[in-house]
Amino acid sequence: MATERTLSIIKPDATKRNLTGKINAKFEDAGLRIIAQKRIQLTKAQAGQFYAVHAERPFYDELCEFMASEPVVVQVLEGEGAILKNREVMGATNPADAAPGTIRAEFAESVGENSVHGSDAPETAKEEIAFFFSGLELVG
Ligand code: CDP
Ligand code: MG
Repeated sequence: MATERTLSIIKPDATKRNLTGKINAKFEDAGLRIIAQKRIQLTKAQAGQFYAVHAERPFYDELCEFMASEPVVVQVLEGEGAILKNREVMGATNPADAAPGTIRAEFAESVGENSVHGSDAPETAKEEIAFFFSGLELVG
């Protein structure tokens, strides 16, 4: 499998509870390398732009409010099959369905406040990385 890059976000519910280090340990233990990382505070408009694909969904407004409510940590993870591997480490969207040992099973508070975001495909990974990072900031 090829080396890939994927966009990860440690969401407000997790940064608020000081879980950045514990979540990063999950990524690193799975063989994912954090090749870029910064802590930022999104505006609601920026969160809305990032999640534009969900604009018609009933949870969109609440999701944008939540993503702007506290700082987030945005990161680029690199590794063999990183996109799928990260989704496995994250666990299912709803923590009630997430496999034991996954980030969402251990840390998520609800289907909305679920601690992490991860890109879902090569094309979205590329777009989402470019949304937050310039090429100069990716240090593989
Ligand atoms: O994050 P993931 O790719 O697993 O799920 P998604 O279907 O792409 O949804 C994006 C985000 O919207 C989720 O991570 C949740 O924070 C939120 N969401 C929600 O609040 N309620 C739902 N029923 C589904 C998603
Ligand atoms: Mg998604």
